[in-house]
Amino acid sequence: MKKSILFAVMVSALLFTHCTNPSSNTKSTSMLDSAALQKAYDTVLSGKKVGIYFLRNTNQVEVAITNFGGRIVALVVPDKQNKPTDIVLGYNQLSDYLTKPEAYFGALIGRYGNRIAKGQFRLNDSLYQLATNNGPNALHGGPMGFHNQVWNVERVHSNELVLSYLSKDGEEGYPGNLQVQVTYTLTDSNELKINYQATTDKATVVNLTNHAYFNLNGQGNPSITDHELTILATQYSSVDSTLIPIGAPVPVKGTPFDFTTAKLIGKDIAADDAQIKNGLGYDHNFVLDKKTLNDYVKAAIVYAPSTGIQMEVFTTEPAIQFYSGNFLDGSLIGKNNQKYPYRSAFCLETQHYPDSPNQSVFPSTQLLPGQTLQSTTVYTFGVKK
Ligand code: GLA
Repeated sequence: MKKSILFAVMVSALLFTHCTNPSSNTKSTSMLDSAALQKAYDTVLSGKKVGIYFLRNTNQVEVAITNFGGRIVALVVPDKQNKPTDIVLGYNQLSDYLTKPEAYFGALIGRYGNRIAKGQFRLNDSLYQLATNNGPNALHGGPMGFHNQVWNVERVHSNELVLSYLSKDGEEGYPGNLQVQVTYTLTDSNELKINYQATTDKATVVNLTNHAYFNLNGQGNPSITDHELTILATQYSSVDSTLIPIGAPVPVKGTPFDFTTAKLIGKDIAADDAQIKNGLGYDHNFVLDKKTLNDYVKAAIVYAPSTGIQMEVFTTEPAIQFYSGNFLDGSLIGKNNQKYPYRSAFCLETQHYPDSPNQSVFPSTQLLPGQTLQSTTVYTFGVKK
């Protein structure tokens, strides 16, 4: 376990029809203390070099990413008063990721993001057994999933970081040597683009995502229930009490899961609803409205009135998990000694549906030798007028 190892695509100017990008004339100042962060991240783990890398653009947006788990450690965007605001949860030092209970802050998740029922699936007549690390189910690739691995740094530029990882045949119970490459790119249009690529030498299942926890009022603020959320999904997966989807997706209409027009996250979060109870709030897979499976579409819009910061999510993935930080309980102390209380962040994890390897009606997550998995997710940031 852990202690044993000591935003492509054509996003045009139109993207911000209702937003303005923060002024690019402002003098560039960095909110992140690069030297201190480097000191707190530069080390060697299991013979592999760990570091922290900074992407910056001309609009004062900064992203810090470590190759330990490919984690986004900080993401600084200007608010409506042009004040630099770090909008993701995380830690100031690597040792915290190694020793604190796992929350998957900012991490790349694989080989299979979200849950696989009972940690079991069949593929080509073989039964694969994974570790069950979430009640009866397997979650987020297992205890030593991609979030806990040191990724190779292939390339680093001022606006791009390319990471790779070879997940060996049998690692965490999954078949096939899976070669993964993830490219983080920060553009001058305030897009953080994550591009995923994977190939295998044996049939396997793959579901890759990033697990950034956002608070658009700034990390460490007490709640995200005042954020307005839109999810471009008319269907979601209803789940059992262990968060495994029960059959085909169902309509959001008339339920607390209807975010097809902007709604406060807090509005229905405590509704007397069996699905809200199962998720302890929102922790559900929303099926994106698309013409074809791999279309690149807008998936979600989130807006925090007090800072004016707005984030939009675009993806080629078929679905998105909206998680309202229900397992945060204030016990994790993050950057700048900030407590991370209950529902003080949300995740929007672009993905395939949970438990797809066991549910044949869902889009397939199989990857075969000779195929290349390609997936793109873009987070864009701006200030709403
Ligand atoms: C995902 C899951 C949640 C929870 C978080 C991590 O979003 O769906 O249930 O496990 O990861 O705490």
